[in-house]
Formats: sequence, C-alpha cells, structure tokens
Amino acid sequence: MLDTAQDADIIDQGAFFACKVTEVEHFTDDLFRFRTARPATLRFRPGEFLMIGLEGEKKPVLRAYSVASPSWDDTLEFYSIKVENGALTSRLRHIQLGDRVLVGRKPTGTLVTDALKPGKRLYMLSTGTGAAPFASLIREPGVYEQFDEVVFTHTCRTSAELTYSRGLVEALKTDPLVGEAAAGRLVYFDSVTREDGPRTGRITTLIETGELFERIDRPALNPETDRVMICGSMAMLDELKTMLEARGFEEGSNAKPGDFVVEKAFAGEGV
Ligand code: FAD
Ligand code: A2P
Repeated sequence: MLDTAQDADIIDQGAFFACKVTEVEHFTDDLFRFRTARPATLRFRPGEFLMIGLEGEKKPVLRAYSVASPSWDDTLEFYSIKVENGALTSRLRHIQLGDRVLVGRKPTGTLVTDALKPGKRLYMLSTGTGAAPFASLIREPGVYEQFDEVVFTHTCRTSAELTYSRGLVEALKTDPLVGEAAAGRLVYFDSVTREDGPRTGRITTLIETGELFERIDRPALNPETDRVMICGSMAMLDELKTMLEARGFEEGSNAKPGDFVVEKAFAGEGV
C-alpha cells in the first residue's frame, strides 16, 4: 500500500505538485485512466477540474482535467483521451508507474452539487471523457445524502469506449464505503451511437423521444423534482441546454444555484 504522506511521492514545486503515478490502465487506443499520489493539502469538491500536465522542454504542458476520484480517496484518478499529435496526450499516453505528473493546486468548476438547488433526482449526462467528473460524484457518499436517486448516463461511439464507466458502476456494488448508499439508488444508462447494441442513440434523441425514461422506468424530466449535470462536447452541451431550458430548467452557478449545470469535456475547435 502506497504511503501518500511520504515526501518522495509528491514534490511541491510551488504552482504545482509533481505527483508519482501509481496506476495506469488503457481501455482502447484512445482512452486510458491513471492514478497519482495525492498531496495531503489538495482539497477539491467532487465534480471539479484542475490543471495537470508534464514538464516540457521550456515550460510545462498543462491541460484542464476533471478529477475522476472521489474527495475521500487518498490517490487522484484521471480519465484521459489520447489525441494524436496532442501537445499533452501524445506524451501522457506513455506514462508509466513511478513517472511524475504535474498537478495544479486550484480545483474549480461548476459541476458541483453546491451549484444546484435541492432536488429529488440527480441526472448526470455524459458523452466521451465527459464521464470523468461523474466518476468522482457517483463515488461520493454525500451525493446520495443530497438526492434520493442518481441517474448516470454515458454515451459513446462504441461499446469499448464505455468500459471505464461500466467498470466503475460494477465496482460500486461491492464498495465498502459507497456500495450500500448507491444500491438501488444509482441508475446507470449507457448507449452507443456507431455500433449496434442493447441501447443505441444520442442522449439528446433518447430524451426527446422519451426512450430514456421508458428504459429506466422514471418520469420525464421535471424541474420540480430533477436536477441535471451535463458534461460533453460543446455541441452536446448546447443542445441539452436548449432542451432543458425549453422544459423550464434554469442554469445554476456557484454564485446562484439552479436546476442544471454544464461543463465542457474539452475545448474543441472554434471554442
Ligand atoms: P489539445 O491540443 O488540448 O486538443 C486537441 C483537440 O483534441 C481538441 O481541439 C479537441 O478537438 C480534441 N480533444 C481534446 N480533448 C478531448 C477529449 N477529452 N475528448 C475528445 N476530444 C478531445 N480531457 C480528458 O481526457 N479528460 C478530462 O477529464 C478532461 N477534463 C477537461 C475539463 C475541462 C474543463 C476542459 C476545458 C477540458 C478537459 N479535458 C479533459 C480536455 C483536456 O484539457 C485536453 O484538451 C486533452 O487532454 C487533450 O490535450 P492535448 O494537449 O493532447 O490536445
Ligand atoms: P455520434 O456518434 O452520433 O456523433 P465523440 O466521440 O465525437 O466525442 O462523441 C461522443 C458521443 O457523443 C458519440 O456517441 C456522439 O454521437 C455523441 N454526440 C456528438 N455530438 C452530439 C450532440 N450534439 N448531442 C448529443 N450527443 C452527441
């Protein structure tokens, strides 16, 4: 068992901590997750992101990353894309146990329960690596104290790209800390868009047609009872935001809690 209190695992470099990599798992040619030692002083709210990166030739290469591990965990987990020729991920994809990843000291973001009004059911809608902040939130006991039910949806092109979220939900069933709280109250719904499967279609379409609610046996979205967190591409966020506003949901922020919150999973072209 790794002792994260040991200085050797974490070097405080001022603006960043250089944290030792403790676990790496590759899912597909495009997706992997890794863990690092966690600085004892690094606190974050589940759902937040921070800057992480690698030392570069002249200066560090840093990118925003959602923290995928829960706030009680003694290591940090990240779920990552591998972008071909990407300044960071073309190198990050090769990290090995014992390598160091730079981790920023200032977590931030809007995918936090503080930015939502109280409600009964919390929807977490994600595509691609947008599942990362929800990987943290679904493993957080406090979320199940705040909401009666949590519905976590993940849509990807192929079934292989769902491996991470499926594994998380499966592992939660026997998790000693969160398993009991999540039992019967965490509803997981996955779908694919470029393969055949038991559930197919974009989340926008599945909401619009009502298929999502039929499949999970829950009523259609209602701002009286439901709260929504969304993480995905800009196009996905824009469409879902428009759909929610048409249903009477108001966007929330840390300063003014509302019925839904959004965060982009990456800053794509033209954004
Ligand atoms: P970049 O030059 O940053 O990106 C090149 C292109 O690759 C982008 O223009 C975009 O079209 C595409 N791209 C980048 N990231 C993604 C992605 N995640 N999914 C699909 N296409 C992408 N990335 C993660 O892998 N995991 C996270 O948890 C995560 N959290 C983020 C949180 C926020 C708030 C933001 C703004 C971004 C987040 N990102 C996340 C994206 C991340 O910051 C980098 O863009 C990504 O690691 C690629 O870095 P790069 O330098 O290799 O390529
Ligand atoms: P699709 O295959 O129909 O494009 P990507 O891998 O491009 O980041 O996409 C991840 C998932 O998000 C895919 O299943 C993709 O579906 C879906 N998606 C892309 N754009 C949207 C959108 N505007 N609204 C909802 N889902 C989207």
